[in-house]
Amino acid sequence: MGNCKISGDPSLAFIVEDRYGHRISYLRVSITDRCNERCHYCMPAEEQTWLPKAEILSYEEILRVIRAGTRLGISKVRVTGGEPLTRKNALWFMEQLGQLEGIRDLGLSTNGSLLAKPGNQGHSLTVAECLKRSGVRTVNVSLDTLDRATYEKTTGRDFLPKVLRGIEAARAAEFESIKINTVLMRHRNEHELWDLVEFAREKNLLLRFIELMPVSTTQVLTEENFLSAAEARKLVEFRYGKLEPVPEFRTNGPASYYRIPGTDQKVGFISAMTNLHFCETCNKLRLTCEGKLRPCLGSHLEFDLRSVLRDPAMTDADVERFFLEVVERKPEQHDFRNQYQPGRRMIAIGG
Ligand code: 5AD
Ligand code: SF4
Repeated sequence: MGNCKISGDPSLAFIVEDRYGHRISYLRVSITDRCNERCHYCMPAEEQTWLPKAEILSYEEILRVIRAGTRLGISKVRVTGGEPLTRKNALWFMEQLGQLEGIRDLGLSTNGSLLAKPGNQGHSLTVAECLKRSGVRTVNVSLDTLDRATYEKTTGRDFLPKVLRGIEAARAAEFESIKINTVLMRHRNEHELWDLVEFAREKNLLLRFIELMPVSTTQVLTEENFLSAAEARKLVEFRYGKLEPVPEFRTNGPASYYRIPGTDQKVGFISAMTNLHFCETCNKLRLTCEGKLRPCLGSHLEFDLRSVLRDPAMTDADVERFFLEVVERKPEQHDFRNQYQPGRRMIAIGG
């Protein structure tokens, strides 16, 4: 397998490690390119066509890939979209995932707008409660603003009230953790960081500020719009005092966490653009909804796993081999800083 190591580990079957020492244990799975929102940094306004159904992996195909992944040491799966909850029978799929052996951590990333809806016919469970019963441990909700007009401007939809109800439904469902992902945008939400911190504290949510990345369109990521994590930290510190780093607190992702002085609230910063060491601890691969396996969000590399899955001559062992070959091609770091031109919409990759 070239440089790609598979090593024994007492607690896992295997750990796959790439040539740079990235240990791959985490698969992000996009189950749809569709979304009920239109975030301007995710979907360029001019491009709003969806993939035809035949090009999207079926749930069975996705489960086959994940099962192969678990045999290679994948123990964490996060389901994303588009908006994953817009896909038909998404709750059924989450239930199947919850039953897969080898997945120790199952999460969902969502815009939150559908979490409070009824999740099953005849019963009175919300979508959030159904997810919890399926074994979902963490839910990440995207929320860039608490201002209804700004929300509509950013996402193209007047969904803030629905999203807030969704967050309440998630709280009521008692997930292990609920994270709020806030994309930092100068002029758009820089004056709201304190409000978001207060909101997160009140509701016991783990807030993370994310630097804007050029994943879908370079037009949105301009000097004008970009607000770095370091600046955001300073803004937060201006009100709360010096933030205390909590290096020992990690959530299996790339965020660095800090404590708000005098409280036990932690706030995360995801500095994909400004932290030159950002990629060192990367443990992820991504599966797009049409079956491309991507070793890195910020690289054009992607490999067509769908043709392997749909070739009757290919066995599960071939799927595993393909997986390892993609790990082998995982780059040392993302390409976002090198005048990266996005080739594919974020929505089709699955943030
Ligand atoms: N830059 C940074 N984060 C983004 N997301 C979507 N597009 C971008 C971008 N261009 C975030 C969403 C969500 C997560 C899945 O990815 O806000 O929180
Ligand atoms: Fe939908 Fe999330 Fe993209 Fe917004 S960022 S359009 S909510 S997938």
